[in-house]
Amino acid sequence: MALDRFISALESMLEEARASLKAVDSNETLEQLRVRFVGAKNGALKALQKGLADVPAADKPAAGKRFNEIRDSLQSAIDEAAANIGGLSVKSSGPANDPTLPGTRPRMGVLHPITQTLEHLKEIMGRLGFSVTEGPEIEDEWHNFVALNIPDDHPARDPLDNFYLATAKSSTAVKSLVADGGAKLMRSQTSTVQIRVMESQPLPLRIISLGRVYRPDAPDATHFPMFHQMEGLWVDQNVTMAQLKSVLRLFATSYLGGDVNVRFRPSFFPFTEPSVEVDYWWNGQWIEFGGAGMVDPNVFRAVNIDPEQWSGFAFGLGVERLCMRRFGITDIRDLYRSDVRFLRQFAS
Ligand code: FA5
Repeated sequence: MALDRFISALESMLEEARASLKAVDSNETLEQLRVRFVGAKNGALKALQKGLADVPAADKPAAGKRFNEIRDSLQSAIDEAAANIGGLSVKSSGPANDPTLPGTRPRMGVLHPITQTLEHLKEIMGRLGFSVTEGPEIEDEWHNFVALNIPDDHPARDPLDNFYLATAKSSTAVKSLVADGGAKLMRSQTSTVQIRVMESQPLPLRIISLGRVYRPDAPDATHFPMFHQMEGLWVDQNVTMAQLKSVLRLFATSYLGGDVNVRFRPSFFPFTEPSVEVDYWWNGQWIEFGGAGMVDPNVFRAVNIDPEQWSGFAFGLGVERLCMRRFGITDIRDLYRSDVRFLRQFAS
């Protein structure tokens, strides 16, 4: 093929394309023209490119140069037509980007219902004048048992009922272990923080402490081997049982709603005297949410506080059970299955 015939075929194809592109008013027609003129398989440009093979060797450089110019002009004409109808990029073989369509919100993570509950509890107790304190999850036996007036032979200290990291058999052995780092266990209750706070902070004090505790309990609908507790401690002169009951009642109505029923049952904890168990009415039955009582004088003595001068109350509530009550969750295990379909329901 002679050089001038090759070039004039290219130029008339460009003319035709320009004329057609001028009339483009939609993505669909633009896409049709793109395929017709620059389509990789059967486009006009591709067909004309084949003619290059028939151009005499001496004319090939000129033919190639003009071919490239025409190809670039064609692409510019296509881009211009795209810009005229709203900026569609026709070079992309992916889905068309239509800026007029409504936006899609990126998928955001949500706070775990237990995290939401912890924050909510802190906020309510803050309003009642309690400040937040933290304590370690790996504890020694002094803070988990001994200072809490839990004797050596108490079943709560049984290695089968605790996650021990090291064991000690007698209180003398515990004391010597404590002296050089101590026997360690995953704390079984947040009451450990009562001791840490009374050991280190000046009186009077009014604190809560929220965190994980660990017990080798078999999982069922209301038990899990790792769960959270909210511990409360108020130490002052003349703290009374009536104040304890008022605080727990106020807390329950703030967290669960005005219609919640609260029941205090006489109970026993080595570190409180008298002690009560706190039940809330839920789904037609009483559910135990925690324990409470007046700080036992032996606990005060263990941390060098004079029980003749100071009095106090303490309580420990199960956070999962509170969360379940509020959100209507019937099985504690759902909280820890890491099933995002379940967890997404708690987007606030
Ligand atoms: C205690 O742990 C005491 N330290 C509470 C206390 C604090 C009493 C201060 C007096 C003064 P108890 O073992 O009953 O008590 O546990 C308290 C709450 O934790 C229970 O009422 C329950 O709501 C929750 N709980 C206990 N075991 C589990 C478990 N395996 N899974 C989920 N929640 C649990």
